[in-house]
Amino acid sequence: MSTFTKTLLAAALGFSMITAAQALPSVKILATGGTIAGTAASATQMTGYKAGDLGIQVLINAVPQMKDFADVSGEQIVKISSNNMTDSVLLKLAQRCNELLADPKVNGIVITHGTDTLEETAFFLNLTVKSKKPVVLVGAMRPATAISADGPLNLLNAVKLAADPQAVGKGVMIAMNDTINGARDTTKTNTTNVGTFRSPDAGPLGVIAAGKNIFLHEPARRHTFESQFDVSKLDALPRVDIGYSHANGDRVAIDAFVKAGAQGIVWAGTGNGSIHENEEVGAVDAIKKGVVFVRSSRVGSGVTTLSLQRWADEGMLQSGALNPQKARILLQLALTQTKDPAEIQKIFDEY
Ligand code: SIN
Repeated sequence: MSTFTKTLLAAALGFSMITAAQALPSVKILATGGTIAGTAASATQMTGYKAGDLGIQVLINAVPQMKDFADVSGEQIVKISSNNMTDSVLLKLAQRCNELLADPKVNGIVITHGTDTLEETAFFLNLTVKSKKPVVLVGAMRPATAISADGPLNLLNAVKLAADPQAVGKGVMIAMNDTINGARDTTKTNTTNVGTFRSPDAGPLGVIAAGKNIFLHEPARRHTFESQFDVSKLDALPRVDIGYSHANGDRVAIDAFVKAGAQGIVWAGTGNGSIHENEEVGAVDAIKKGVVFVRSSRVGSGVTTLSLQRWADEGMLQSGALNPQKARILLQLALTQTKDPAEIQKIFDEY
């Protein structure tokens, strides 16, 4: 039977001919910049390059192998180095992901992003994307012009993950260095190494080996389609600042945050979220003024627990296993719904 006859027959039977290309999953790539789109003067220059220089179409053209796995199209959201990330870009990304994922023709989303604040964007989307469809963040530690640039393979792996039915319902993920990390638990642990993203307490969700996604764990906490947070109508987020405890600390930063209008403060405390007594007096005054104060830890792994009963009696909350930058994101979202510290502690215990 000729193709023409097959097409006529298919039309008569009420369905369209599906070619191999049409049958591929549709993956949208939202580009924000970062080192994955960075350029340097030479192949050996690995620092001091221009992050976010290349547009999304250049990145797509550089990895034609993606087209074997997905019908890929790109959209440039911003072109920034992620140390310059803003709340307004976070909101724009969440809103665009939700629009795209509501389209039955879209199977998944990849977001190219700088690695510096990638964990914050991933966690924000993990709490605000209302879909089971895969959303995968990807970056690189070496600019696109570098010898052994890690971006192209990371991008291919991210697209394959976003197109993979196994990845449905797993929350927002990060695919880098042949590892699948979950948005809640992963953090950047090394300033320059390609294996920078690790999940110190939970471990990775899976690995990528021989070109296959191999899942090892499920995310344990509420995320995406189970999340209570809705940013569809928001154009700003509550101000939440992070302070850092150290020897000889004092209350100056806390007072400045309150003066600047902070609704919440996350404290990167020493050890198990401990706070210097000179900082504590500032925290107590901030709490009396209605600021929500969450103890986290500067240690880099482990759970920040209740610890001293006095701190709880003074109204301080604890972040659990969230590091300060993740606790800040959750506190911003919590404050869009309630100012009640007890309710907010419940949110920290659930997400
Ligand atoms: C950035 O975060 O945009 C720069 C660093 C990187 O992407 O690795």
